[in-house]
Order: sequence, then C-alpha cells, then structure tokens
Amino acid sequence: MRTSYIVMICTSAILQRRLVISAFQLGAPYATTTTTTSRRTFTSSIILSAKTEGGGGSGGRSSAAVTDKDLLSKTTGNNAQIASLLDTNPPKGTRDFYPPDMRLRSWLFSQWRSVASLYGFSEYDAPVLESESLYTRKAGEEVTQQLYNFVDKGDRNVALRPEMTPSLARMVMAKKGGLSLPLKWFSIPQCWRYERMTRGRRREHYQWNMDIWGVDGIQAEAELLSAMVSFFKNVGLSSEDVGIKVNSRGVIAEVLMELGVPQEKFAATCVLVDKLEKVPLDAIQGELEELGLEKSTIEKLTSVLTNKSIESISAVLPPDSQAIQQLSQLFTLCKSYGIEDWILFDASVVRGLAYYTGVVFEAFDRKGVLRAIAGGGRYDKLLETFGGDPTPAVGFGFGDAVIVELLKERNILPSFEGSGFDTVVFAMSDDLYGVAVEVASKLRAEGQTVDLILEEKKAKWAFKYASRIEAKYVVIVASDEYANGEVTVKDMSLGEQKAVKINALEQWAKDL
Ligand code: HAM
Repeated sequence: MRTSYIVMICTSAILQRRLVISAFQLGAPYATTTTTTSRRTFTSSIILSAKTEGGGGSGGRSSAAVTDKDLLSKTTGNNAQIASLLDTNPPKGTRDFYPPDMRLRSWLFSQWRSVASLYGFSEYDAPVLESESLYTRKAGEEVTQQLYNFVDKGDRNVALRPEMTPSLARMVMAKKGGLSLPLKWFSIPQCWRYERMTRGRRREHYQWNMDIWGVDGIQAEAELLSAMVSFFKNVGLSSEDVGIKVNSRGVIAEVLMELGVPQEKFAATCVLVDKLEKVPLDAIQGELEELGLEKSTIEKLTSVLTNKSIESISAVLPPDSQAIQQLSQLFTLCKSYGIEDWILFDASVVRGLAYYTGVVFEAFDRKGVLRAIAGGGRYDKLLETFGGDPTPAVGFGFGDAVIVELLKERNILPSFEGSGFDTVVFAMSDDLYGVAVEVASKLRAEGQTVDLILEEKKAKWAFKYASRIEAKYVVIVASDEYANGEVTVKDMSLGEQKAVKINALEQWAKDL
C-alpha cells in the first residue's frame, strides 16, 4: 500500500514543483516574495491552482495557460475539464493567504493585540454582514457609495461591512445602557469597500480598531494616540518614519458658526472639505451648491485650514475657541506620554467620514509616498443618529495594507518564509515509521511543534526539506541507533549531530 502511495506522490511532486512556484511568483496578499514549497499531497485543488500564475492574491490578474495539458488530463481525469473553466484568481481586489502570507498576517495581528491589551482594551467582534441601513448616511461620504450591498433571500437589504464603527455603535446600543462605561474595546475586522484599487487600497482589508466610549475629555484621544505610537515603536518604526497629524473639526464648526452656516450642514461640509484635499474646488462646485454653501464660504474655510500651527489658526478663530483649548490640552498630554515627536497639528486633516465631531487624526508616512496609514477621531453624536442616548466616543481604524508596504520599504519586515516549526522527525526506513510516530508524539507532548515526514524519504531529502522550512532540529530514526535505543538529533543552526536515548527525549526537549 505504501509503495503505490509513493508512486502517486512522485507524480504529484513533479507537478507541485512547477505549480507551487507559479502560485507564489506574482502578488501575494502583502506582495511578499517567497519560494516556500507546498507540503500538500496530490489533490485536484492543486491542479486547479495551476491554471493561472499568481493565483495568490494579486486579484483578478489574468493568467498564463496550463503548460502541460496532457499531463494534467492523465493525472486528473474529469478535473482537467473543470480546470479549463475555473478562474483560480480570487475576486478582484481580494486576497488568498498562503501559509507565508498567513504567518505575516498572524504576526501583524499579534502586534496589534499585544498593544491593545497593554492599554487595557478588550476584544470584540461582529458579523461581516450587516443591515445596509447601518451605513446609509446622507452626507455624501465615499464609503457609503462603495458598499458591497445586496438583497438577501429573505428580501432584506444587507451589506458587507465597510468599517467597524457602526457595528460597534449597534452593539453598544443593543445593551440599552447595560454596559458599564467607559469601555475600551478593540477588534480586527475584515472590511469590504468597492474601491478604486491603488497602492495600499484594496476591496477588502483587515482593520485594527481601537475605541473608547463614555469619555468626553481629550484624555481618551491622547491614550489612543499613545497606543498607536506604541505599535509603531514595537514594529521598529520611529518618529522619523511616521507622523500623526491632528486637527479638530471643532475648528470647522466655529468658522461655520461665524459665517452663519446652519449646524445641520456641518457633517456634509466636513465631507466636502475632505474631498478638497484630492479634487479641485471647481470639481465639487455642484455638490457645494446642493448643500447651499457659497463658494466664498468654502474659500474662507480652505484658507483657515491651510494653517499648520495652533498659534496661527488661533489668530483667525474666536479668542475663547473651545477647539483650540482642546487641541492645546491634547498636545500638552502628548508631551506627558513622551510622544510629542510623533504628533503635529495640521488644520487640513478633516477625514472623510461624516460622523466625526471633534478631534480627528491621521498617521502618515513622512516620506509622503504612501496613503494614510491609519485614521480616526471623535464621534460623539453617532449613537444619537441611530436613536440612542448621547454617548461620547473616539477611536481609530488602522489597515493592514499600508503598514506592511511601509515595513517592507524600510526593510524591517521580519521574514515569514520559515515554517516556525521546531523539529522534523523522519524514519530512515518503512519498518521504523512506528518509532518515528512515537518519537513525534513524545516531542509534541512536551509542546514542540513537529513536522513528521509521512513518506519514506532519503536522509538527504529530509535535511534539505528541514532547512527549507527552517526547522530548528531534525530527529532521525535509523536502524543502528534504534538497536541501541537511540535516535540522532541534528541541531540545524549549529550543524551538530548527537545521539539521544529515546527514553530521554522528553528531557532533551525540556532542556532546550
Ligand atoms: P477610515 O479612515 O475609513 O476610518 O479607515 C481607517 C484606515 O483603514 C485607513 O487609514 C486605512 O489604513 C484603512 N483602509 C480603509 N480603506 C481601505 C482599503 N480600501 N484598503 C486598505 N486599507 C483601507 C474608518 O474606517 C473608521 N471607522 C475608523 C474609526 C474607528 N474611527 C473611529 N473608530
């Protein structure tokens, strides 16, 4: 039985070598380049993935054809038929996560989780599918026009969440005041936006969210900014790489009040002003008129928003400006946290979401090459728009795409090529396979991560394999050593080999 299995593996090995290289050649989720080889045994899914190069996540890239149709049809039978029909690319703008990509993603999430817990935040989650009405705000935001929405089989209008904040508001409201405030919660949701694809912008992304509800003071903003900086420092970035621009929408509110613009136009004005960063005033003239804003009002606003220091903007605002008082307090607190080098005032930062009411902030790459790394702000009125009680809230969202680009650009992204497994165990001959199983079980019981070689292989192959997956040790079960109750253990980093008694393996694992 084992012989016929090996024959099958050999055939698949030829295919796998070709297929796996092609799967990784182009665009992995975080565009990592890797030569990791799949350990999967022969399945039709591998054959299917041969159809296109770069199936790993570039999203919608069309492919080179299968090169050896004869070989495919001999080995897959009916599946070859399917192979010519199925596009193995994930939907445009979405990603597959092959093991090296998944290791990167898990590493990033663990960095986010550890900072969140350092700051006393508890993790929560919500469904990726929400009621569409959660997002149908009328302020002309981009995000509401980018919804992945549809009518489900029960005639309900639903949408894939484009962001987490409305779900969080829904969850808080559902408890009808039963949650003890303040609450500090975080999550890492996958979010969906039908975006125009650019560098760092995809149609799905993971987004670290940190939110504080129930604190109306600026202390909450400062704590969040400090958490963000802790993350940057932990992954090796400095204030020379990244800055966080801070502003307050209170500034806009005060200018509008001075100009006699009614308060209900505040949210839509903020959304328009944010657009001015990307498009010329003339291009949104129609939207301005619809909103009932004079061009001169917008011109006055934009001139105020060019200010880059609190002193200069104070000069054009009322002397008792609340926005300025809050911002000054925030900058003083940032000094107490020791993060003042990271934070700068920039009146042009407005952010594009309608619900922000006060301080807004945006982490950016100081070289100015990449898009915003993260963004957030205060949204004290969001719950009221859903019919809930007024409840102060502030938070940020931090995507997984731009940060990975940045870490790669600065050459400080760890390598995820290695499997991270401790030990490869293999038997030199078929009759010793049972011993190899016992050895693997002993090591696993000690908490080692063990990759047991399931097929009969030559020692040379096993060592090559162990070095490719970057295992730390190889344990070889061979007949001569086994006759003495021993196995050979090779330390892959030192290149040293030694005999270890099988009944002393647990101790060997404990002593590492
Ligand atoms: P946002 O500014 O829309 O805010 O997004 C926050 C971050 O998510 C962005 O700075 C970026 O890192 C990432 N991001 C957004 N869209 C994409 C995309 N298409 N592809 C890749 N990354 C993306 C919000 O979503 C707010 N709900 C954040 C928040 C939480 N505010 C308060 N609490």
